[in-house]
Amino acid sequence: MLLTLGEISAMFFHSAVMFLWIQSASGWMHPKCQIHDNNEDFGHFPTWICTYLPRHAEHYTAACEDVTAIEEDLLGLPPNINTLCMSMKQGENRSMSLGFFSQFQDLEYLYIEGCFSQILPTGESHLPNLHYLHLEGKISGCCDCHIVPHTFRDLVKLSHLTMWGYRLSAMAPDVFHGMTQLQSLNIREPCVDDLSEILCRIMKIKSLMKLNIEAPEIQSLNQLNCVFLNTNESVTTVFNNLAFSDLSFGEITHIEEGALAWLQNLTRLTGAFSQEVLLHLPLSGIQQIQYFSCSGSNEIDFESICNVVFLLSIKEIYLYNANTNGLKDNGHEICSFQKQPITSLTKLTLVLNNIQMLFAKQFICLVNLQYLDLLHMLFAKQFSCLFKLQCLNLTQNLISNIDDFAFLGLTNLESLDIAKNKITQINANTFFGLHSLTWLDLRNNPLIHNIEAMSFTHLTSLRQVFLGQVHNPLTEPVIKLNLTLIFGGILNQLTHLYISSAMRPMQLIIGSNITSKQNLSLQLKGQTVSFEDCDRPFFQSVTHLNADAEEFLCGSEFMGKYFTSVETFDYRSKLSAKSVDLTSINQLIHLRKLTLRQVDLLIQRSADIIFHNLTKLEVLELYHCRIYSLEGSLTKDFNSLKRMYLHFENIYNVFYSFTEPLSSLKYLTFHNLQMFCSCDNAWLITWAKGYRQVEVLMLSPYADPSIYALEDLICLSDNGIDTPNFVKYTEANCTTEVGFVLFAATGLGVLFFMLVVLVHNLAGPYLLPLYHITLGWLSEAMRSNTRGRYHYDGFVSYSGMDERWVVEELLPNLEQRGPPFLRLCLHSRDFQLGKDIVENITDSLYRSRHTLCLVSRHYLRSNWCSLEMKLATSRLQVEQRDILLLVFLEKIPPRRLSAHHRLARLVKTRTYLDWPQDPNQHQAFWDRLWAKLKPPTEAREQRFM
Ligand SMILES: *[C@@H]1O[C@H](CO)[C@@H](O)[C@H](O)[C@H]1NC(C)=O
Ligand SMILES: *[C@@H]1O[C@H](CO)[C@@H](O)[C@H](O)[C@H]1NC(C)=O
Ligand SMILES: *[C@@H]1O[C@H](CO)[C@@H](O)[C@H](O)[C@H]1NC(C)=O
Ligand SMILES: *[C@@H]1O[C@H](CO)[C@@H](O)[C@H](O)[C@H]1NC(C)=O
Ligand SMILES: *[C@@H]1O[C@H](CO)[C@@H](O)[C@H](O)[C@H]1NC(C)=O
Repeated sequence: MLLTLGEISAMFFHSAVMFLWIQSASGWMHPKCQIHDNNEDFGHFPTWICTYLPRHAEHYTAACEDVTAIEEDLLGLPPNINTLCMSMKQGENRSMSLGFFSQFQDLEYLYIEGCFSQILPTGESHLPNLHYLHLEGKISGCCDCHIVPHTFRDLVKLSHLTMWGYRLSAMAPDVFHGMTQLQSLNIREPCVDDLSEILCRIMKIKSLMKLNIEAPEIQSLNQLNCVFLNTNESVTTVFNNLAFSDLSFGEITHIEEGALAWLQNLTRLTGAFSQEVLLHLPLSGIQQIQYFSCSGSNEIDFESICNVVFLLSIKEIYLYNANTNGLKDNGHEICSFQKQPITSLTKLTLVLNNIQMLFAKQFICLVNLQYLDLLHMLFAKQFSCLFKLQCLNLTQNLISNIDDFAFLGLTNLESLDIAKNKITQINANTFFGLHSLTWLDLRNNPLIHNIEAMSFTHLTSLRQVFLGQVHNPLTEPVIKLNLTLIFGGILNQLTHLYISSAMRPMQLIIGSNITSKQNLSLQLKGQTVSFEDCDRPFFQSVTHLNADAEEFLCGSEFMGKYFTSVETFDYRSKLSAKSVDLTSINQLIHLRKLTLRQVDLLIQRSADIIFHNLTKLEVLELYHCRIYSLEGSLTKDFNSLKRMYLHFENIYNVFYSFTEPLSSLKYLTFHNLQMFCSCDNAWLITWAKGYRQVEVLMLSPYADPSIYALEDLICLSDNGIDTPNFVKYTEANCTTEVGFVLFAATGLGVLFFMLVVLVHNLAGPYLLPLYHITLGWLSEAMRSNTRGRYHYDGFVSYSGMDERWVVEELLPNLEQRGPPFLRLCLHSRDFQLGKDIVENITDSLYRSRHTLCLVSRHYLRSNWCSLEMKLATSRLQVEQRDILLLVFLEKIPPRRLSAHHRLARLVKTRTYLDWPQDPNQHQAFWDRLWAKLKPPTEAREQRFM
């Protein structure tokens, strides 16, 4: 191959770029760690807590896995990481020194998962900035790790320490001594059954503000006793400085008097208690508990609970009872108001198995209750005494009927959740009296009767309402709902409206010129959803739209365009749905996020302009859609697009130019990418790896998608059966240039350069034609014996972007017209597999009587096409015969054409055909083309043009 001066300089440029990239890459690629620049959005950065920890912009975060030898495995990490998350390879039981991390002087957050035989202090080298340390040894059950005295003393800024799964009794008694800044200590699963083991070790941490202990092994609460530590000091008052304390135990079987006297004011207490033990709780010395979670399987009566609530001023209580009899009410009212006014309680959550045990009258005394979550409970008709109630959650009960005025008196109720019941009917007075209600959830109720007129008009504070499934009336084919009729004037203050008719067709009527004062979020679901009065101003207030319906219509048109202010639009259709022209999406110029699900873009007549004008769009998600190919004319206005998620059901072509307009793109996700093996797509690999601004993620096709590497991508070969590895395919078929450039650059670059400059100066302009003519003569000589016996009537040279035209127009009009029937050679169909692509082109070219070049902008851009063109013109020069036919698929401005000398010259000297815009002229066009390509009647060659 011969190189021009330009190609040589391009070659040097390429090799310089490669070199730079490898340099910077050495800082990034690490065998065990992933490193992330904190300046950037974390996106898909893996693993746990690292992603959530606060981070400083100028630093790095590193996550390392399967670490065996810390010092060696962390080599090569940037020194300025401030967050390090590390998990040790399982079964490695080594000694660890905090000094291992001293190379990271900026380290603030250190998270280590793994069990060590011992942990040693930092020694000389301090970690001056570390303030968060998380040690998690639980992966191997209980971690028996020896931690020497004063281990954490030198970590002068340490304020948060978590030890999870480390056996506390294996540590030195004075392990925590000397810490001066520790504010928060979190001890989980310390494998001890005596609370003293924990408390005696930590009672010298004077700075402690927050204490979490989760010790499921502790069953007996005994008085604090530090004798085993050989200390005479009485338990100090350090624990009374605690602003937050959270103790969680297993099943408590015994509480000693004064056992919790060291702690006056407990934030949270969690455990399983029997009734007898529960009654001992106030004797433990504790004064107050804010939140009490009590579970258990023994029977407990409400009176005991009320006593404890009263004595310990409990504010919130969560009761869970696994026993079928569970909480017993003894026929009394819960916490009789007369006996003991319980004013502390603000939240009661009951999770009961015995659904029959509570009746409305029992709530009469609970006037201070602000939240009431009752699961699995029959509907109560009477709430009138609960005038302070703000929240009522009655989901997943069996409520089938709500009497009129059922909620009367609940004047403070703000949120009413009656989803997932069996309600069939809503009347004008069903919700009467709920003046403060802002949230009403009626989802998943079979509303088979008409919603009565004015049913919601009196809910003057209502903002968010969820209705479904509206089935009324069952006999009518289409469900009709007049929104003004049922909501009246409150329609203008809604911020969220959800209406579902589930699987039935629904027709909505706005019914008035009412406009919303809010940015409305509208969510609609039905088999089909249509509107009767589409030009109502109401639609202009919708900023968030979610439509889940095969068809979303105004008359027979797509309804989308009436939502002129919409910023996020999520539309789910069905691939089998009747085709409706979606082009008007390109009028929704305020869109920031667009999600299309199961939309068939293949059958859209103007699929390429659907996404035009969407210059504000930041997120585009296409799930289970179908598309012909991705190309630049589709994405041309996506200059704000940051995130693109592509999940197509069909096999499609991806083209380079589609990413060109995407100047803001950060994340590109391909879910189940199925594409043809084509060198047109080879750029994807180099682009994804080289273009660091964009994070490209490949997801496998399964329901629970898993990430796979670009290197594992497969493609579908032209025979439709083989699925070779795409990287290997491109290496074998498409990398001639790059491979050669690298080879030349490293080895013979300089020599070549000098030689070519010399030769170029002497004989520059004649070299290339000479080369092609020689090549042509050579091939001609080799082929002369087969001359005249052509395998094809025409070799079609075209860009893959024009494949659709070839398949839909060219093939039917040339191959199926006759007799004689023409045989065309297409690279996508007729190339021999496994053969070198250049050889394939040359072969096909010479086995065809004519070469038909389909000229378009894409054609001019494609490298393979220009090669085909070169080969064809060299053949033209050699054979001196009319073998080349040019068809212009679109008008190419002369300015553009002049850049392609060879073609420009041909156009000047030869006639060519233009694909007519006017469909009436198509027939004439095909007649002419067919006549030119048709084989000569006798052995004599016919002359065309
Ligand atoms: C107990 O702690 C809570 C939360 O810190 C605080 O609001 C309350 O006043 C404290 N009670 C006593 C008696 O110290
Ligand atoms: C009501 O309770 C259910 C079940 O616990 C829960 O999913 C739902 O979010 C709750 N509703 C509200 C409004 O909090
Ligand atoms: C919808 O209800 C409003 C208010 O009652 C009424 O004015 C309007 O005529 C109704 N529209 C239809 C089509 O029934
Ligand atoms: C509602 O608005 C439309 C056009 O915006 C207008 O033709 C119609 O007269 C209005 N109707 C009422 C009742 O104001
Ligand atoms: C959107 O783009 C299309 C095609 O590019 C154009 O015909 C149409 O007028 C544009 N619409 C708006 C509202 O800008």
